[in-house]
Amino acid sequence: MSESNKHLDSHDTTDAKHLKAAKQPVGLTIAPDASHRSGVVAPSLLSIELRDRVIQWLQKHVPASRLQHILRVEQMAIELAQRHDIDPLQAAQAGLMHDLAKFFKPQRLLEMARAERLVLDPVDVANPHLLHAAVGAIVARDEFGIHDESVLDAIRHHTLGCPGMSSLSCVVFLADSLEPGRGDTPELVALRESSQQNLYRAVWLTCDESLRHLLSRAQQIHPRMVQTRNWALALADKKLPQPRIR
Ligand SMILES: [Fe+2]
Ligand SMILES: [Fe+2]
Repeated sequence: MSESNKHLDSHDTTDAKHLKAAKQPVGLTIAPDASHRSGVVAPSLLSIELRDRVIQWLQKHVPASRLQHILRVEQMAIELAQRHDIDPLQAAQAGLMHDLAKFFKPQRLLEMARAERLVLDPVDVANPHLLHAAVGAIVARDEFGIHDESVLDAIRHHTLGCPGMSSLSCVVFLADSLEPGRGDTPELVALRESSQQNLYRAVWLTCDESLRHLLSRAQQIHPRMVQTRNWALALADKKLPQPRIR
């Protein structure tokens, strides 16, 4: 589920099929004319080179199972972006780089966040792992030269979301929680269905699922996840069938 509880994440699975499929140059999976809509440069050799460089970096900094999760998030983010008329290249970049700092030590996360003068909530300080999202955006900028603020925001918000976040950020937030490696529980199946229909509704319901998970385990709840949930709830399509309450 959403990464407010993913610091105890054990959902990753080894799946060579996914890895093999996602190793294709990501540009080749994007509809040829899709990138023209937003004015972003069409998928090019450069983006493939960047992707290779990121994957080589990830191979040194995260376990193989995490890399497979990342590649599944990249693929699902592309698919959701295409579904909702969002730039798939931006979705691919954010998906591929969303977990760059996932395995940074807590002290390093805190030091990098403070050096960047990020405003830290007490829940961040008590659970520095939550900072891997914000620190991941710093790594994407400094290590890979990403300066597209939309992409950096999608990386920053992939764990807790953020009220007012863009559709691109919604897509990456949802792809991280709902990629196929997370499982096939009825709740996940329903959330994937929601993500096809209405991004706000899917964000709201994904937050609800994460909040239930945290409450059931007596874990701290970051206030930003509650704010994200309330924001998405206000914008969600209420005409759709109401979710099943457990
Ligand atoms: Fe993450
Ligand atoms: Fe992730």
